[in-house]
Amino acid sequence: MENKENILFIGNPGVGKTHLSVSIGIEAAMNRQITYFISCNDLIMNLKRALLENRLDARLKQYAKYKVLILDELGYLPMDDTASKLFFQLIAKRYERNSTIITTNKPVSEWAETFGDPVLANAIVDRLLHHSHVIKITGRSYRTKNVINDPEEE
Ligand SMILES: Nc1ncnc2c1ncn2[C@@H]1O[C@H](COP(=O)(O)OP(=O)(O)OP(=O)(O)O)[C@@H](O)[C@H]1O
Ligand SMILES: [Mg+2]
Repeated sequence: MENKENILFIGNPGVGKTHLSVSIGIEAAMNRQITYFISCNDLIMNLKRALLENRLDARLKQYAKYKVLILDELGYLPMDDTASKLFFQLIAKRYERNSTIITTNKPVSEWAETFGDPVLANAIVDRLLHHSHVIKITGRSYRTKNVINDPEEE
């Protein structure tokens, strides 16, 4: 946080990305750092609503001020053009100011598809990765590891 570094947790469903992000968020909050957790989907919905209501600036400023902002589940739902642009604006505002934690099932190489625009995806990735820790988590889902007849077992 002191160095405004970001974390990117990349991995398949159930490997513990949200769990780790929330743990770090709780630790940050216990150290009196303003911390906020939101799914990417809700974030985009809120930013789009703010755009329609002509109060995007205030909303972006609010999201930019958190010492730690956790953006959960990037990549599960595709982003349209407006969504990608709003996401870029937020990342650009937070760049070198505060720390952002992102969880995603998509490797960075596939973000052009997620954002629907290679140029925008590159600009987002460039800022996020500049001061960052990329943590790839492999292995089986904690959700299904004890399920009998797990198809992965066969
Ligand atoms: N190290 C761990 N030991 C035991 N249980 C864990 C561990 N990490 C995560 N879990 C549990 O496994 C479940 C799935 O973890 P989590 O929700 O963090 O996955 P995820 O990677 O965010 O998945 P998704 O991409 O589907 O959102 C949760 O119930 C979580 O509490
Ligand atoms: Mg998750």
